[in-house]
Amino acid sequence: MSLQDVKLINLPKVLDERGNLSFFQNNDQIPFELKRVYWIYDVPGGEHRGGHAYKDLQEVIIALSGSFDVVLHDGKEEKVYSLNRSYYGLYVPQKIWRSMENFSTNSLAFIATDAYYDTQQYIRDFEEFKLLTNEG
Ligand code: TYD
Repeated sequence: MSLQDVKLINLPKVLDERGNLSFFQNNDQIPFELKRVYWIYDVPGGEHRGGHAYKDLQEVIIALSGSFDVVLHDGKEEKVYSLNRSYYGLYVPQKIWRSMENFSTNSLAFIATDAYYDTQQYIRDFEEFKLLTNEG
C-alpha cells in the first residue's frame, strides 16, 4: 500500500434549515463492510493517539466534532491530513502507519473499520513497519 491508496471521501451532505445530515453505508460511500466502530474523545492537549499500522484492516476516520491531524506514512513518505469537517471521511487502507495529533478541545474522532478488534492486527514498531513495507 502507498499514500496513493489513501482517499479523502466527500460524504453526502443533506443540507437542511433544521440542521445538516451526513451518512455512509457499506460498500457505497465507503469501500468495505463495517464490522466495528470506535471513537476517541476527551483527548488532553498535546496528546497523540494511534501510532501504529494494521496488517489487514481498513478504516475511515471522521472528525465528527472539532479538528485533529492524521499523520500517515507508507514507509517511504509522510502526508498529513487535517480533518475538521464532519462530512469528510479519510479512508486509510491496511499497511499504512498512522497517528493522530493536534486534537482541538472537545474534538471527537470517529473511526469505522472492517474488522473486529484484534491485537494481532497491530504493527506498533515503526522500524518493523518500514522493514515490512520496503520488503514489498
Ligand atoms: P489502541 O488501539 O492502542 O488505541 P490508540 O491506537 O488510539 O493508541 O487501543 C487502546 C486500548 O483500547 C487498548 O487497550 C485496546 C482497547 N480497544 C478495544 O478494546 N477495542 C477497540 O476497538 C479499540 C480500538 C481499542
